Amino acid sequence: MKKFENKTVVITGGARGIGKAAADLFQEEGANVCVWDFTESDGSNHFFCKVDVSDMAQCIEAAKACVEKFGSIHVLVNNAGITRDALFAKMTEEQWNKVIDVNLNGVFNATKAVVDIMIQQKYGRIINTSSVVAHYGNVGQANYAVTKGALISFTKTLAKELGKYNINVNAVSPGFIATDIIKTIPEQIIQAFTERTSLKRMGNPEDVAKAYKFLASEESSYITGSVIHVDGGLSF
Ligand SMILES: NC(=O)c1ccc[n+]([C@@H]2O[C@H](COP(=O)([O-])OP(=O)(O)OC[C@H]3O[C@@H](n4cnc5c(N)ncnc54)[C@H](O)[C@@H]3O)[C@@H](O)[C@H]2O)c1
Repeated sequence: MKKFENKTVVITGGARGIGKAAADLFQEEGANVCVWDFTESDGSNHFFCKVDVSDMAQCIEAAKACVEKFGSIHVLVNNAGITRDALFAKMTEEQWNKVIDVNLNGVFNATKAVVDIMIQQKYGRIINTSSVVAHYGNVGQANYAVTKGALISFTKTLAKELGKYNINVNAVSPGFIATDIIKTIPEQIIQAFTERTSLKRMGNPEDVAKAYKFLASEESSYITGSVIHVDGGLSF
C-alpha cells in the first residue's frame, strides 16, 4: 500500500513551482491530490479547483468540492505565495496589502475552510510555507517577510490549539529555490545567496516537496509547532 492511499491532500498554489512538485509527489505516493490555484497546470491530472486563496468564499467552495469528490480532507499544504518587492520607502499600500492578502489572509481562509473537517475526524496535518526571509529579513521584502514571519507564529499557535484533535501544524522555511517567484531577484543577489549556503547550490522544488511529504506522513506524527529549514544551510 502506498504511503498516502486514502488520504486527501489540498495544496494551495499547486499548479506551478514548489506546489506542483508537491502535488506530483503526493500523487506518486497514492494521495488524492486537490490543487487550489488560478490556472490548472498543463497535463496534470490532479483534482483542480479554481481558487484565489485571498477569497474566503472560494476556499469554502473548494473545500466542499474536495469533500464531495473524495469524502474528506486530511492534509492542507498552505503553499500559495506571492511577492511584490520594493524598498520600504518606495513600497505602495497596494504592494503591502496585496502580499498580506494572499500570503497571510490566504492562509487564514484556506485553513478556516478545512479546520472543522479535521477537528471532526480527529485527524489533520496543516503545513505552512514560511521562508528564510522570516528569520533574517531581506532588503526589498518588508511586506513578504512580515507575512512569512507571521506564519511561524500562526503555526505555533495553531499547534497548541489543535493538538488535542490530533492535528499537527508545522511550517517549512525554504531558502532560495529555483522557481518563477525568484525570477525578479537580480542574478548577482541569487549568486551571493548561493555562496552563503553550506551546500553551495540553490534548492529545487522537490527539495521542499519532500519536507512537505515528511510533515504530512506518519513519520512525523510527534512533531508539531516546528519549523523545518530547507535552505541548504543558508546563513548570514
Ligand atoms: N522559490 C523560493 O525561493 C521560495 C523561498 C521561500 C519561500 N517560498 C514560498 O514557497 C511557496 C511556493 O513558491 P514558489 O517558488 O513555488 O512560487 P511560484 O510563483 O512558482 O508558484 C506559486 C503558485 O501559487 C499560485 N498562487 C499565487 N497567488 C495565489 C492565490 N491568490 N490563490 C491561489 N493560488 C495562488 C500561483 O498561481 C502559482 O501556481 C510560496 O509561499 C513562497 O513564498 C519560495
